[in-house]
Amino acid sequence: MESIGVALFGLGRIGKIHLKNVLLNKRLTLLWIVDESEDNVKAELEHYGGQKEIQIAATRQIENVLADDRVSAVVICTPTDTHADLTIQSIKAGKHVMCEKPMSESNEKVAECYDTSEQCGKILFDAFNRKFDKSYRSMYDKVRSGEVGEVQFIRSTFRDTPLWRGAETFTQTFLCHDIDICCWFAGELPDSVVCVATAHDEKIKQAGDVDSCVVTMKFPNGAIGVMDFARYSCYGYDIRLEVFGTRGMLKMEPALESTVNEYRLTGKQESPFCASFPQRFQDAYIAELDHFIDAIQGKVEIYVGREVCERIGIVLDAIKQSYKTGTVVKITSNKQ
Ligand SMILES: NC(=O)c1ccc[n+]([C@@H]2O[C@H](COP(=O)([O-])OP(=O)(O)OC[C@H]3O[C@@H](n4cnc5c(N)ncnc54)[C@H](O)[C@@H]3O)[C@@H](O)[C@H]2O)c1
Repeated sequence: MESIGVALFGLGRIGKIHLKNVLLNKRLTLLWIVDESEDNVKAELEHYGGQKEIQIAATRQIENVLADDRVSAVVICTPTDTHADLTIQSIKAGKHVMCEKPMSESNEKVAECYDTSEQCGKILFDAFNRKFDKSYRSMYDKVRSGEVGEVQFIRSTFRDTPLWRGAETFTQTFLCHDIDICCWFAGELPDSVVCVATAHDEKIKQAGDVDSCVVTMKFPNGAIGVMDFARYSCYGYDIRLEVFGTRGMLKMEPALESTVNEYRLTGKQESPFCASFPQRFQDAYIAELDHFIDAIQGKVEIYVGREVCERIGIVLDAIKQSYKTGTVVKITSNKQ
């Protein structure tokens, strides 16, 4: 099969991960990189021997990229508030789109993105990488096959590091992952949500955001979901998941940097935790890109589609409302 021509938009933290994976993927040919800084792109490409055949465009030149007929697919790694417009523009130009999560914080925009993709017959994939991680996936398969019995409790913990004070809010960039996981395991949309949150970091507080929160969700099937999130963990990247049911519990532990343990008079010392998301989800980022290509080539249906994104948007809205009002927020939407 012919190699798929790709343009990559945004070369920041996640864009650099996708850059590497696109370059290594034999089914893709990277043709363009679009970023606000040309110097940033040139410096990054130096790690890959310069890659002179890849064209670099500034944000304002995006139309040239979309007019290039060799480009069949676009990977969007720009800040969240730019995703929806870039997605719509790209699909209208005839490109398949893989967009970083979340597609948008506006449910109307998410709907517009999917409407456009359906009207134009182009693939739209919101890259929720955890769904392509082997540990999450094997836990999910076990839960679905009834190994823990009836699910009563889902606990998703996310303690991030290093401290990232980017412009995005805790709901924009972080919580959507855990919402996705809790709803995926519960198999439905919660009917009520409550959020307690605070900021310990002075700069984050001044920016009107929070760095620590707990969200509790009740699902119609009786399961309770709890997400606890900290924007900075001093001991490493700590991602865990517990699913407790009538027949047992499954627990995903945080990933370690290596499998080497040290044994001394003072006891056993395990390896440190993974440094951050590029290390923890390295394989998942490769797998999600392959999934996108498989969908373009007609081999699979997109796994994270419209329903998933709409569900996350509904829960995010309820969380924001609960945080603002300090109340339990009921969700009445019939979207599952
Ligand atoms: N799936 C994951 O694990 C994961 C991890 C981190 C970030 N993200 C998501 O990826 C997105 C980007 O986050 P980040 O941390 O990489 O941000 P970042 O700030 O590190 O990088 C964003 C890049 O986009 C460029 N940019 C900004 N506007 C642009 C435009 N209109 N066109 C082209 N380039 C533009 C900037 O110059 C910058 O290089 C966010 O939506 C975030 O939620 C996902």
